[in-house]
Amino acid sequence: MKRNALIVLLPVLLFVLNGFSEPIPIARSGPQELSPLEDLGRYLFFDPRLSGDGSLSCASCHNPEYGWTDGQQLSRAYPGSDGFRNTKSTLNISDTKHLYWDGRLPGSDLETQVRDAITETHFMNLDGRLMQERLKQVPEYIQMFEIALSSEPSFGGTLKAIAAFEKTLRTGPSPYDTDNLSDAAKRGQLIFEGKGACSSCHSGATFTDHAPHRTGVPENPSILGMPLRHATYRSFIKAMGVPGYMQAKTDVGYFTVTKSSKDLGAFITPVLKQVADTGPYMHNGMFSTLEEVVSFYDKRGDGLALTEVEKADLVTFLESLSGPLPEVEVPQLPAYQLINNWNEARN
Ligand code: HEC
Ligand code: HEC
Repeated sequence: MKRNALIVLLPVLLFVLNGFSEPIPIARSGPQELSPLEDLGRYLFFDPRLSGDGSLSCASCHNPEYGWTDGQQLSRAYPGSDGFRNTKSTLNISDTKHLYWDGRLPGSDLETQVRDAITETHFMNLDGRLMQERLKQVPEYIQMFEIALSSEPSFGGTLKAIAAFEKTLRTGPSPYDTDNLSDAAKRGQLIFEGKGACSSCHSGATFTDHAPHRTGVPENPSILGMPLRHATYRSFIKAMGVPGYMQAKTDVGYFTVTKSSKDLGAFITPVLKQVADTGPYMHNGMFSTLEEVVSFYDKRGDGLALTEVEKADLVTFLESLSGPLPEVEVPQLPAYQLINNWNEARN
């Protein structure tokens, strides 16, 4: 029954999505020398045919121009819904042990996260079987899957390829990594590790303890204030099994994972490498700049009583955690090839 519906719907969808008409030769790798699997992942990452209505690719939200985020406070979402979290960057993803702000997926299993992004209704809302049938209508994809995985286009292969590509998105050494900190950044580091107590949570080589904390970032009023965001958020926490999901007035955070009240409003400490490129900041994008983030910590609780110079030094230190961005060529997407045959078949 389902398969029949798919066969009937496919030509219609192909017709609707026929925005890609010219067949384009395949560029085998970007400047970074990708393996065939990683390069296939690069094409798929930028391909909006991986979303239900063909309107969103991974790169629509994880845009290389904005440090592989979208530069927005809160993310967009699949048409008909709207986002309730800030888009996290896909840079240096292997440093992250718990994916998403609330840590609801394990970093060791990137493929499951890719599956979530493709199939989740508020992300790309595409059925895996339909996705596979779509890719089979693109001769270049058939060829690329054959070379990379010795198989025809498949959902599982797509997850593998995108995960492999994401792992190549590493940034180069920062002034911090190469021991090239300016004097201001060195003073900032002392505050980070001392008076500011930042390193009590942002610890170790990746600046995270990989643990949940409640830092008390103010709620973003637009989440409950805007009907589409509000509805998307409620449906998300309902799906996560949050009891009393209609009553929640705040982002419950890590509570979705443990259902333990101590985790209400807690989020996993984020990696800080490359942080200067990925604003706005925090799970709800409440701060646009690193200066605002530092002011927030300065005033939080009993306060840190940082001087203006100390705050500026701390920002300079945070900026010194960024290295060169990976150079990735945006692929020219190969077109569907069935549409002409279909027209012929109709005549
Ligand atoms: C409509 C916007 C949107 C699209 C499309 C989208 N993402 Fe995301 N992505 C987000 C948002 C928002 C988050 C943070 C969600 C949260 O924390 O609850 C996120 C988080 C992630 C993370 C976790 C990062 C971390 O450090 O925890 C990864 C990895 C990721 N996305 C990869 C992808 C991939 C791969 C695709 C395509 C298959 C994709 N995303 C499509 C918006 C999007
Ligand atoms: C109690 C643990 C803890 C301490 C102490 C702490 N942080 Fe954080 N930090 C977090 C958590 C958790 C988040 C995410 C909070 C959220 O999204 O609501 C975060 C977020 C951030 C972000 C935003 C990252 C992004 O990608 O949006 C920056 C920048 C940051 N912290 C810097 C600092 C600095 C500087 C200090 C010291 C003044 C500090 N942190 C102290 C746990 C901590």
